[in-house]
Amino acid sequence: MSLDRCHNIERLRAKAKRRLPAPIFHYLDGGADDEVTLRRNTDAFNDYELVPNLLRDTSNIDTKTKALGVELDWPVFLSPTGMSKLFHHTGERAAARAAHKAGTLYSLSTMATTTIEDVAAETPGPKMFQIYVYKDRGLTKEFIARCKAAKYDAICVTIDVPVPGNRERDLVTGMTMPPTFSLASLFSFATHPVWSLNALRNPSFDLVNMSQHESLSLKDKQISPVQYLASQIDSGMTWKDAEWMAQEWGGRFLIKGVHSAHDAKKAVEIGAHGVMVSNHGGRQLDGVQACIDALPPIVDAVGGELDIILDGGIRRGTHVIKALALGATACSIGRSYVYGLGAGGQAGVEKALHILRSEIERSMALLGVTKISEITREMVVRRGT
Ligand SMILES: Cc1cc2nc3c(=O)[nH]c(=O)nc-3n(C[C@H](O)[C@H](O)[C@H](O)COP(=O)(O)O)c2cc1C
Repeated sequence: MSLDRCHNIERLRAKAKRRLPAPIFHYLDGGADDEVTLRRNTDAFNDYELVPNLLRDTSNIDTKTKALGVELDWPVFLSPTGMSKLFHHTGERAAARAAHKAGTLYSLSTMATTTIEDVAAETPGPKMFQIYVYKDRGLTKEFIARCKAAKYDAICVTIDVPVPGNRERDLVTGMTMPPTFSLASLFSFATHPVWSLNALRNPSFDLVNMSQHESLSLKDKQISPVQYLASQIDSGMTWKDAEWMAQEWGGRFLIKGVHSAHDAKKAVEIGAHGVMVSNHGGRQLDGVQACIDALPPIVDAVGGELDIILDGGIRRGTHVIKALALGATACSIGRSYVYGLGAGGQAGVEKALHILRSEIERSMALLGVTKISEITREMVVRRGT
């Protein structure tokens, strides 16, 4: 199937599935435990129904908005996702270029396979860096200094990984970082020769933002993603540390992984500029609420005090419209764009962004609104009420 025939995100997912060796695809696609939260993140959007107001002039649709202090051409940006070179050898550079071309923000992960500086050099578009707090606290200070020097627009700290989630698909497929051609996975790599040849020609799967710290690098290691995180992440991190980070950075600062009004209020208290209502795409604690269900109480508690980003489960433009109607400032996507990366590198990410943006534009016209600010609470009702 060519990219032209990928008419929606699900078809991009199907194309990525065909192109990627099984351990890589399932690392991307999977979630924790029974994947209940992973499924609910998307399914729960169906519990909210849209209410159009029609016979309005919708000949000019304007999707521009502002979030994290930057102007965006439309209200969706790219969430941080680690190890992008696993999905296509052009990795983070391709995704950052596609985001810039589509007029939106790119987020780079601590676990990236491209450096903070190389992504900054690749595109002048808006950028955020995501921090996992490692046991070596000096590293956080170093990341913040490098983001200042490379003029990143924002930093977010991910708080929902005190320990890694239980990703059972990785155990079944034998997924390791860097990928290993073990007996268990050999068949899958052998039957995906294009991916495997590119991987052999461009074998740079290291976590390059830490490569000068030998113990943190993946060089000469073969370890599962979960084992790596478990060995490095500081589960002693508290709100005091987040407050210190906000002050040390001094710029736009977000807390990623907020599930409750309680934690959203804490984010306001420590001076954060935004929260990402997120459960890590169902990859951490299985059984937590879908992001769209967690959103309304958070909007009631802190709406207007900071930016509220809905991050989880978005596969359709109508999902974005529902989140905005319930009070989100903007949305961010993980798998939707990474499926595109796996399906066709930069062109695949561009395709994913194009699909979602056109779905948003069409849905706005069908809803009877021409601007993002016209999408209001009355335009969505909970099913059955
Ligand atoms: C392959 C993959 C890698 C990810 N890596 C990170 C990461 O390094 N840091 C982080 O904060 N979140 C990470 N996430 C979570 C995303 O930032 C985001 O919260 C999640 O994907 C949103 O759900 P969605 O995939 O349904 O859009 C990752 C998600 C995926 C699918």
